[in-house]
Amino acid sequence: SGPEVARLVASRVLDVPDFPKPGVMFKDLMPLFADGDAFRDVIDGIVAYHGRESFDAVVGIEARGFVVAAAIAYATGVGVVPVRKAGKLPRPAYAASYELEYGEATLEVHQDAFTAGHRVLVVDDVLATGGTAAATLDLVERAGGTVAGFTVLLELSFLGGRDRLAPRPVHALLTV
Ligand code: PRP
Repeated sequence: SGPEVARLVASRVLDVPDFPKPGVMFKDLMPLFADGDAFRDVIDGIVAYHGRESFDAVVGIEARGFVVAAAIAYATGVGVVPVRKAGKLPRPAYAASYELEYGEATLEVHQDAFTAGHRVLVVDDVLATGGTAAATLDLVERAGGTVAGFTVLLELSFLGGRDRLAPRPVHALLTV
């Protein structure tokens, strides 16, 4: 159930102070990925929430989103499409830039990643400021996909990511 999966995420996240820079509390979900039973329950929880008939492809955001996306794809029989940091994709790609605390970052997706009308479930490990997710949803639409849903394992609500993505729905297994 939803509350059980939320408790599972809460019990498998580690707070790492001052990573990747001083003053930032990093939310490390590696312990969840490393626990086979917990990881499977989380993947099953995401699939059950959206319904396995509601999407035709799953997008994972580099890098930890890849882990979640690949598992959902395997569990449901759809394909997985990576959204990558700039310069990593080998063929023509769309690019979307967004603000970081200091400077700018760019994400890319292959231009031929989706066929028109493809319903795309987007997944990542953590929603913080929402910059990464906003850029990714923009890329999916520019590449011809339709965003069927956006799910994260952990939402840091005090950073306002959900508001930034409005009116698009955000699903988080755990919100803190
Ligand atoms: C983290 C996290 C999300 C993003 C959330 O990725 O996995 O993708 O930040 O932050 P935002 O909501 O403020 O945009 P990170 O930049 O650490 O990349 P990595 O997974 O490749 O290490």
